[in-house]
This record gives sequence, structure tokens and C-alpha cells, in this order.
Amino acid sequence: MPDPDAPDIRPSEFDRLGEDVPLLEGIRTTRAIRRLRPDPVPREVIRKVCEAGTFAPSGGNRQPWRFIAVTDPERRQWVADRYRPRFHAYIAPAQERASEDPEFPEARRRMQRAAIHLADHLHEAPVHLFVAAYTRGGKPQLQAAMPCIQNVLLACRAVGLGASLTTLHTGFGEECDRWLGLPDNCPSCALIPIGWPIGKYGRPPRRPLS
Ligand SMILES: Cc1cc2nc3c(=O)[nH]c(=O)nc-3n(C[C@H](O)[C@H](O)[C@H](O)COP(=O)(O)O)c2cc1C
Repeated sequence: MPDPDAPDIRPSEFDRLGEDVPLLEGIRTTRAIRRLRPDPVPREVIRKVCEAGTFAPSGGNRQPWRFIAVTDPERRQWVADRYRPRFHAYIAPAQERASEDPEFPEARRRMQRAAIHLADHLHEAPVHLFVAAYTRGGKPQLQAAMPCIQNVLLACRAVGLGASLTTLHTGFGEECDRWLGLPDNCPSCALIPIGWPIGKYGRPPRRPLS
């Protein structure tokens, strides 16, 4: 059943979508959105956020990034079944600290709950966007992939999609990259679960610059 609250975007609106968000406001209100509606996201909108990624800087302008959007439900389940146990193993010590410490900050508790929600519902996120980058001298080029990934996250914010940067899939990276059909010299660096958000964008908690 499609969610009646998920946006219904006509193809004629794809070009204009997200073009009116002021850049600095978009930067200040891009946060990890981990609660996502299961409704599908049009392919053109996914292409649009990936295209924003390609405007990132890269050494020698080599543009080493590659994008793979996994949308098939069975394939998303495959990813989710591997991400979930790794995420729970990763978060368990922090969860224990939170349960023992009454002073544990509420913002961090909220983040934990949202990240656990994402891990438990990853299969429902309609798009698993993997960003991979060709290696250079045998080393992953994270320094080139990350500006590209940040552009994708900002573009998701602009078009109204929820998204967050995750990297825990690298715990089964080789298996995952083979399964994605990536060559050995192009490992995936990020898994960005994308979908229409359940929550809203807004200023994330940040320490003041000074
Ligand atoms: C390198 C990197 C790796 C990350 N890996 C994960 C991850 O595996 N799972 C996850 O839920 N969030 C992951 N995050 C997201 C961070 O938790 C998030 O950016 C941080 O909590 C700030 O969120 P906010 O912008 O909503 O305040 C990662 C972020 C970075 C920069």
C-alpha cells in the first residue's frame, strides 16, 4: 500500500525539484535521516542526487566514483541481513554505557535509537545507494569519495529525500562488492539508505564554532 503522506512527484517536476533550497541553509539542515518510508523513489530523482555527487572535487579531476542503486526488495534484504548483526555488535557497548549512565546525553540516546531503527528496517529503505571509488596505488580513495558522498547527501536534502551516510557494510565489504559486481580495484566506501523521510530535516546538534 503506498503511503498517502509520501510525495507524489510528477515527471514534469523532476527538473525543478530541489533547485530552490539556498546552499548554506541546505548545508546547515542536512542531517542523518534514518526513518524512511518504504515508498519507491523515482529513478530520475536518484539520478539527480547522484549527478550532484559527480560535481565533487577529486585529485587530478579523476572522478573515481561509481554509483550502484539497489532497489530490488530481495537484494535489499540481502544487504540488511548482513548489516543488522554488524550494527548491533557495533552499538552494543555504547548502548550499555547509555543504560548505566543517567548523564548520558539525550541527543546521543536519540541518535542511537535512530541508528538502531535504521539497522532493523534497512530492508525497507527503498534505495540502497552504494558509492564506490577506484583505488589509486592500491589504496582506496576515500578522500575523493567523501566529497562526492556529501554532495549526494546535500542533494537528497534539497529534493526532500531522507538519507544518511553509513559505512558498516565494509565489515562484509569484499563479499558485498563481489555481490554488487564491482571490480577488485573499485571497493564500495559508503552505503546511503535513501527514501522519503518520516521525520523532518532541521539543524543537527553541533558544537559552536568557537
Ligand atoms: C565516516 C562515517 C561513517 C558513518 N557510518 C555510519 C554507520 O555505519 N551507520 C550509521 O547509522 N551512521 C553512520 N554515520 C553517520 C553518523 O552517525 C552521523 O553523521 C552523525 O551521527 C551526525 O548525524 P547528524 O548529522 O544527524 O547530527 C557515519 C558517518 C560518517 C562521517
